[in-house]
Amino acid sequence: MALARLLHGDPQHDTAGSTIDHGRGYEVFTDLAFGGRRNHVFARLAELSAARPGDHVLDVGCGTGYLTRRVAQAVAPGGTALGVDPSSKVIAHARRLAERDGRDNCTFERGIAEELDAATASFDVVVSSLMVHHLPAALRQRALAEIHRVLRPGGRLMVADFRPPRGRIGRHLVGAVTGPAMELNPIGELEGLVRQAGFEDVATGDLHPWIHYVTATKRAVRSAAAT
Ligand SMILES: C[S@@+](CC[C@H](N)C(=O)[O-])C[C@H]1O[C@@H](n2cnc3c(N)ncnc32)[C@H](O)[C@@H]1O
Repeated sequence: MALARLLHGDPQHDTAGSTIDHGRGYEVFTDLAFGGRRNHVFARLAELSAARPGDHVLDVGCGTGYLTRRVAQAVAPGGTALGVDPSSKVIAHARRLAERDGRDNCTFERGIAEELDAATASFDVVVSSLMVHHLPAALRQRALAEIHRVLRPGGRLMVADFRPPRGRIGRHLVGAVTGPAMELNPIGELEGLVRQAGFEDVATGDLHPWIHYVTATKRAVRSAAAT
């Protein structure tokens, strides 16, 4: 089960979420698992976030920063992308990759989804990819509530996660290679978590080979004159 450990390592002192510590191994495995479509899929996720030049974006559970670097590109000039993750090792790896790509509007910090170290209403866009299944079920709603808190009114969310195969054999294979967190991921619950956190304009979709995403907006404050 070395791969399962690579993908779902030990909880850190401040979160029960399983973290990724081996940035290089994670990159190799994930490239393979997307079968050559990783760049295409993440470019589409960045597009779905609707991040635009000048926006300030938070990537929650950023890992090696694959999506963070893409949204950083989308918000230039004038915008920034901040990736947070509980693993200091993966954060160090993400910083190296951003530096290699010359993404100087892209920064990384330690942080946990269920207790974000960010001011209320401080981001225009929040994105998160393949993170929610790392959280124990009891923490997921709290994480979505935190994401909702740090978005400004009218701000946008794009959250994507692993969609297990529908067939039993495919699911067993995923379980054998990566462990139960991915095999049994209750992906159908993601939309409900987003709605329960208070988001509106909720939309969902799938991307080949195994991504399910939800996009949504934090309710804008309506002026008295408009009502
Ligand atoms: C499968 S990786 C995804 C990384 C990256 N977003 C991507 O799409 O490649 C899941 C990430 O979630 C992080 N994670 C685990 N528990 C977390 C928590 N409580 N808050 C934020 N991130 C967490 C892990 O450390 C890991 O880097």
